[in-house]
Amino acid sequence: MQTLIEQALNDRRWDFTYLGMQVLIEGLALVAFQRIRDYSKNTLCRQVNAYVMQDEARHVAFGRLALRDYYPQLTDAERREREEFIVEGSRHLRDRFNSPEMWETIGIDPKDALQEINRSEGQLRFRKRLFSRIVPIVKDIGLWGERVQKLYTEFGVLHYGDRNAQDMLDHDAQVAEEFDRLVGKSPKA
Ligand SMILES: [Fe+2]
Repeated sequence: MQTLIEQALNDRRWDFTYLGMQVLIEGLALVAFQRIRDYSKNTLCRQVNAYVMQDEARHVAFGRLALRDYYPQLTDAERREREEFIVEGSRHLRDRFNSPEMWETIGIDPKDALQEINRSEGQLRFRKRLFSRIVPIVKDIGLWGERVQKLYTEFGVLHYGDRNAQDMLDHDAQVAEEFDRLVGKSPKA
């Protein structure tokens, strides 16, 4: 995770920062907020997270618009470099809870732990949610080369590419507006 953030922020090319932050990391953040928004039993928690998501969804939308205008102008080689970054970043995100060092420290073979993690329902659900948010954006900005498609096929998430990226982000805004109505405030424009 740290490597991913450092890579994104340290690269001098602006679009890598957008790609890392707005597409991958804010995608991850949205999944975390969504869990609270949709499943918390506390209304205030749900409401606050709906508003945070509304804001984050705007950031993702901003990154998406900037990148989808820029990427068609790149050469094939330049685009491949971005796809490489997406492939690496997607692997990092998928594996972020594997924590091999932790298992080793407490005396469990990381290989055994990994087998359990890959089978655990919570983990599978998390990965599905995560990539259902990231994959539509990646496809939409045009980083849909062979390597990216191969990776997402391996992850079993390629079909999320058919989702409409804008609808998804609009939906987060609508949910927040719904909370506005519930608490009797007028919805924001
Ligand atoms: Fe943000």
